Amino acid sequence: MDWLPELDHCNNLQELKELCLQCRSCGLRENVKGVVFGEGNENSDLMFVGEAPGAEEDRLGRPFVGAAGKLLDRIFGAAGIVREDVYITNIAKCRPPGNRVPKKEEAESCFPYLVRQIELIQPRLIVCLGTLATQFLVHREARVTAVRGQVFEKGGIKIIPTYHPAALLRDPNKKKAVWQDFKKIKELCKTK
Ligand code: URA
Ligand code: URA
Repeated sequence: MDWLPELDHCNNLQELKELCLQCRSCGLRENVKGVVFGEGNENSDLMFVGEAPGAEEDRLGRPFVGAAGKLLDRIFGAAGIVREDVYITNIAKCRPPGNRVPKKEEAESCFPYLVRQIELIQPRLIVCLGTLATQFLVHREARVTAVRGQVFEKGGIKIIPTYHPAALLRDPNKKKAVWQDFKKIKELCKTK
């Protein structure tokens, strides 16, 4: 997928969202109710990036509102993070059928939207939720299991991968690691 030069001309998230809603760069859009662009505080220092919308996200047009989102909300609550204060989005903005992981070419074709979102929001810290976000934002070969809790830096933005909340639902033993990661996230938010 080529770069999308028109994205560079979007000067705010609303313009970018409008382009994203019209996007047909991959086949996912054909089978979804709508695009889940992302939401939250557009001036936030803290951004969360997941994988792709699920059924509930597609239905409501909002990221992380299904089972994984409810767990993320609980983690936020425990960590003292106010959901409305942060920005939340995904690598893929359209739901893959049957909640499969987005294919490489789908994620690649969607990635320019995330890059522009990051440029416009200018967070200080990005939390990668799960392997796909980690691969796109840290290293294409990365595994969240191997790099979670490590702090990376790109273009002046710190990046920390942690497990996806859906992984916690499957394996509650991962909760302790995520809690450690969120303690680090809180510390990183303090040290500007
Ligand atoms: N899982 C994700 O990765 N993103 C969502 O928005 C919901 C579930
Ligand atoms: N493993 C995880 O822990 N999370 C993911 O999202 C994918 C693989």
